[in-house]
Amino acid sequence: MRKALFIANWKMNKKIAEARKFCEEFLPLLDNVTDVETVICPPFTCLHVLSAALQGSPVKLGAQDLFWEDKGAYTGEISASMLLDAACEFVIVGHSERRQIVGENDTVINRKLKAALDASLLPVLCIGETLQERENSMAMEVVKEQLHRDLRDIELSEGQLLIAYEPVWAIGTGVNASSDDVRKMIAFVRECLAKMFSQSLADSVRILYGGSVNEENIKMFLSKEEIDGALVGGASLQAESFAKIVRYKEI
Ligand code: PGA
Repeated sequence: MRKALFIANWKMNKKIAEARKFCEEFLPLLDNVTDVETVICPPFTCLHVLSAALQGSPVKLGAQDLFWEDKGAYTGEISASMLLDAACEFVIVGHSERRQIVGENDTVINRKLKAALDASLLPVLCIGETLQERENSMAMEVVKEQLHRDLRDIELSEGQLLIAYEPVWAIGTGVNASSDDVRKMIAFVRECLAKMFSQSLADSVRILYGGSVNEENIKMFLSKEEIDGALVGGASLQAESFAKIVRYKEI
């Protein structure tokens, strides 16, 4: 059984005092929650304070990005070993905002994945099609291509990789994908992974959905056996709404 996983992606939101306040409100709301794993990915500037605030709690820490080199003259970049040093266990790689706004391509994402895996960080690889690609019936082809390019020459052991299927048109728009479309896409992603690696490897990968997830729709997604959890942007910024998502079974 793959354990349900909920990842908060705060993006470029929250200053240190706000991050601290979030933890003060959020952690008590998780009392008696079992069988799920929760991760917060704050901006880099809040990692240190969050690692202290989350200590002794079941909530884990992740970063939103990393650079592929370990150290040196790379102004503005943060390496995998620095993230480990800041108590991160997870790192988001290839988020569509980085692909689209910063211009990250699959070669860059592939290097970042290798760096994360080499450092034993758990990468959360984000993949997904644009609206135009979906309308042209290319969604599956696009996702398959991303998987092949992003995971090129990578050897994986079970449980080392996480994937977030995030259709670009559903991110931050309030328009979520239907649970049936997500279920089909995730089954397809698992099929691709089985061909690229092995069935047992594919079965071990937790595949999340992301894109306008909130407390109203989370139960619908998690009721599908194929969907192992959610990567949550907007609705993870308020302690109460993210706690409701994590406690989806009680809704
Ligand atoms: P959203 O973002 O929940 O605000 O749509 C999801 C994401 O970008 O990971």
